[in-house]
Amino acid sequence: MDISIENIRKEFERFPALHDVSLDIRSGELIALLGPSGSGKTTLLRLIAGLEFLTSGRILFGNEDASHKSVQERNVGFVFQHYALFKHMTVADNVGFGLRVRPRSQRPSRAEIRRRAEELLELVQLPGLGKRFPAQLSGGQRQRVALARALAIEPRVLLLDEPFGALDAKVRRELRRWLRELHERTGHTTVFVTHDQEEAMELADRVVVMSNGKIEQVGSADDIYDAPASPFVFSFIGASNALRVHVEAGRVYLDDRPLELPRTNLPDGPARLYLRPHDLEVSRDEAGSIPGVISAVRRTSGARLIELEIGGRRDRLEIELPAEQSHRLNGRLAVRPRKWQLYRDDECRLAS
Ligand SMILES: Nc1ncnc2c1ncn2[C@@H]1O[C@H](COP(=O)(O)OP(=O)(O)OP(=O)(O)O)[C@@H](O)[C@H]1O
Ligand SMILES: [Mg+2]
Repeated sequence: MDISIENIRKEFERFPALHDVSLDIRSGELIALLGPSGSGKTTLLRLIAGLEFLTSGRILFGNEDASHKSVQERNVGFVFQHYALFKHMTVADNVGFGLRVRPRSQRPSRAEIRRRAEELLELVQLPGLGKRFPAQLSGGQRQRVALARALAIEPRVLLLDEPFGALDAKVRRELRRWLRELHERTGHTTVFVTHDQEEAMELADRVVVMSNGKIEQVGSADDIYDAPASPFVFSFIGASNALRVHVEAGRVYLDDRPLELPRTNLPDGPARLYLRPHDLEVSRDEAGSIPGVISAVRRTSGARLIELEIGGRRDRLEIELPAEQSHRLNGRLAVRPRKWQLYRDDECRLAS
């Protein structure tokens, strides 16, 4: 099912939780909505589900305007982070719930519902657990039951709001891989909310990065990581440093020192150089590179993190070097970037 979100706006008592949001979701695609707390991810998901209604704009399911349709009419399945299972029902009854509450004319027979529940429990790798009660399952198992329940109604679209948010990191990683495989087998159009950038990048065909009720960028994991459209996206996806620089006639200056970077077409004036810690390498020569004084060295499992204070200013750079590279790690150090992004200063202020 293709979904088109056209220029939507959602206000809660005049507060615009979403504005100017447009997005095309292709049939069979797994999309992640990624953004900080309060950026509007859940609101967008609830609007797609029909749990919330638009202030303006349209949502199309295929060619049909679904903006005013109910949850049932849209036939979506959803799983929320804290959408608890019905405690007094067995696992199988939980899974079959959406079918049992259908109007009689569309309701499968009892035996059919039982069979479907068993099939779905197998699909989510919990065969034979149908007779248990939710309290007798682990957290990860419960979330898989919730997913089986969402799938039972044969939804046209599957909506997941941080379904693994409450679980520990290892279980999350397992469920992530498992969900990707399940998606490949079933081919549901799926929208997945998360504020974990790794989860989004690893799972999704395309990632939608949101901030302040707006979409900042839509793209593959490679797009958003290697070509972030804004300073916000750069710093939200992965570790980052920002250094205040100055552009004059296409050259980039750090204070009054020209940096050895290709010419930019940014206009003259203040700018910010965004750098990832692992895209910086030690330079022999201070000319054209970024010199500083080492203020801290830390060891992580796979690397050595170095904090560099850049001449008398408040700017600091974090540099990630291979752990083996430990020589001369005190005093002065000059680094040069292998990759970087340069943004105008006013874009950076808008982002923060
Ligand atoms: N029912 C509501 N009434 C008033 N304001 C709301 C309501 N629901 C959401 N908001 C506001 O809309 C904004 C977006 O909220 P939303 O729940 O969509 O964020 P989110 O991206 O899902 O955040 P989180 O990661 O914390 O779940 C927030 O500022 C929130 O306070
Ligand atoms: Mg939310």
